[in-house]
Amino acid sequence: MNDVELRHQANKEFAISARSLIIETLNDPNFSLLISTKSSRTDVVTQIDQSVEALITNAISKQFPNDAIIGEEFGLSGGNGSYEWVIDPIDGTTNFIYGFPAFAISIAVRTTQENEVVSGVVYDVPRDRLYEATKGGGSFANGNAIKVTDQDEIADSLIATGFSYSNEIRIRQGKIIQSILTKVRDIRRAGAASLDLCMVAAGEIDGYFEEGLKPWDYMAGALIVREAGGKVDGAWTEEPTAQMIVASNGSIQKALVNLITPV
Ligand code: 2AM
Ligand code: CA
Repeated sequence: MNDVELRHQANKEFAISARSLIIETLNDPNFSLLISTKSSRTDVVTQIDQSVEALITNAISKQFPNDAIIGEEFGLSGGNGSYEWVIDPIDGTTNFIYGFPAFAISIAVRTTQENEVVSGVVYDVPRDRLYEATKGGGSFANGNAIKVTDQDEIADSLIATGFSYSNEIRIRQGKIIQSILTKVRDIRRAGAASLDLCMVAAGEIDGYFEEGLKPWDYMAGALIVREAGGKVDGAWTEEPTAQMIVASNGSIQKALVNLITPV
């Protein structure tokens, strides 16, 4: 196996161990969920987010001691080698806390020199569905190849989105929703960005956009969309930014970007 194949194989193993830790913890009768808040009262975290990130980070450091690591909960660690792991231990934490069945472990590997994402794994915990992609190798869900829809009419498209933890951004997002609701088939808001992206990749929705994400929310999912034949950009930039991510089957990308562009 080459460097990327080794890391992709390990990526899947880390995600599987992380899911086992979540399930075991939830099944422990003595366990009670401790919830605290981060940037705002809507931005929540649990001790499971932290223990899952620690598990993944320790496993990476052991197997790939030179690789850099960045995680949502603990920030930067590891070495300064040619690869960096980008981890969201639980994407969709609010859903996780409520038991709403849409949360995932998201792990991406990128090259530090070319900044190219080479491996992406998103493990949908409640659905027991492991989405994966390698650069140039296609996208899979539980081993089966997935692809985006062939819908080419924005008016007949099912579009997902998400809302920020910041009220200032939420006000803007509400206005965008109001203006596009009459122009698309319908809107979905599941609450886990990595899964929204995988649903685009698997053809379960036609498109998705969101303002205010971090790289660990979208890096793995974006590769999975692209390798499933879809398109991902930042609406007004080639790559997604903290400002915006737009993902779709490709055919409706331009129309979707036009819909969310302020006039
Ligand atoms: P999280 O559950 O890991 O916090 C909800 O719309 C989606 O966007 C979730 O994937 C959530 O990730 C992410 N998200 C929302 N606001 C965010 C913010 N301010 N920073 C990072 N991620 C955010
Ligand atoms: Ca998270």
